[in-house]
Amino acid sequence: MEGSRRARPRLILGIETSCDETAAALVTDDGEIRSSVVSSQAELHARYGGVVPEVASRRHLELITPVIREALAEAGATLQDVDRVAVTQGPGLIGALLVGLAAAKAIAWSHRLPLVPVDHLDGHVASLYLQPEPLEPPFLCLLASGGHTMLLDVRSHTEQELLGSTLDDAAGEAFDKGARLLGLGYPGGREIDRVAHEGGRGAYEFPIARVPGLDFSFSGLKTALLYAVRDLDEAELEARRADLAAAYQHAIVQALVERVHEAAERAGRDRIAIVGGVAANSALREALPDATAAPLALCTDNAAMIASAARWARPLEYPRYLALDAYASR
Ligand code: KG4
Ligand code: ZN
Repeated sequence: MEGSRRARPRLILGIETSCDETAAALVTDDGEIRSSVVSSQAELHARYGGVVPEVASRRHLELITPVIREALAEAGATLQDVDRVAVTQGPGLIGALLVGLAAAKAIAWSHRLPLVPVDHLDGHVASLYLQPEPLEPPFLCLLASGGHTMLLDVRSHTEQELLGSTLDDAAGEAFDKGARLLGLGYPGGREIDRVAHEGGRGAYEFPIARVPGLDFSFSGLKTALLYAVRDLDEAELEARRADLAAAYQHAIVQALVERVHEAAERAGRDRIAIVGGVAANSALREALPDATAAPLALCTDNAAMIASAARWARPLEYPRYLALDAYASR
C-alpha cells in the first residue's frame, strides 16, 4: 500500500580507490553515515616500504566487489536504495583510480543512476561535513595527507581558496620517509606517532623550514634525520629511536601549526579544521586544541568522505559518464 510505505532515505554510494585503501560507504543526503568499509592494503605493501602502484591496482580489483557488498550489507541496503554513485576521479594512482571508476560506472549504468565524480581532496574536506557534528564553513582548513599538504580558506561547501602548499614532500610523506630511516614499518605516520610517546621531543633539534608566504618545505628535515641516523649503529639506533621519532614529529607538527595560525590570521578565520591522514597524529591534535579535527576514522582515506563531497557536486546523468576518465594529479 502506497500510503503506509515509509519513505526510504536517498542513499549515496561512495567508492574510493585512489591509493592503497579500497573503500565503499553509504551516506544519506543529510550526511549520516549508514556504513563505511575500508579495506587497507597496508600489510601487502609493507614489505616494499611503500605503495607499489601495480600491486595496488590488482588488489583493488579483487577487493572492490566484496567491499561494496559489505557496505550495502552493513547499511541494510540494496542497490535499489541507492540514488547516485559517487567516486574518486583523482588525484591518485591512475591504475588504482580506474578500478574504482570502472566499478562506479558499471553500477550506475546498470541501475540507470547518476554518477558524481569527486576530487579526492574535496573529499578530505567534506569529511568534516558528516554527522553527528557537521562543521559549517567558513573555516581555515589544513589538509595534510600522504600526497598533499595544503592550507585552504574554505568559504562555503563549494568555494575554497588555496593559500599555501608544500614545495617538496607532503607532511605524510615526511612521516613515511622518516619512519623508513628509523627502521619503522609502513605506513610510517602511525608508527612514528606510537613510538614518539616513549621519547623526548627536545632530545634533538631538527630544522623547521620557513619558506616565504604560506608554503611548506619538508625535504631539509628529512635530510637532517638522515644525518642524525646514518652515524648510529643498530644498537644505538634502537636506543635513540623514540627520541628521534619524537623530535622529528615535533618538527613536522611545529611547521604545520605555525603556518596554520598565520593562514587563519591572514584569511581572517577564527575557526580552524584539520583533515587528511596526518590529522590523525596525536601530537598535531594536541598542538591545535581549539581546532576541529576530522574524526579519526575519517582522517585516513575512506569512502564516506567521497559520498559526503558528492552532496555538493553536480551529478552526471545516465549515461553521460561512460567516457569519464580519471586524473593522476590536479
Ligand atoms: O589521507 P591519507 O590516508 O592518504 C592520502 O590521501 O595520501 O593519508 C595517508 C598519510 C600517510 O603518509 C600516513 O603516514 C599518514 O597519513 N598518517 C599519519 C598518521 N596516520 C596516518 N601521520 C602522522 N600521524 C599519524 N597518526
Ligand atoms: Zn587521502
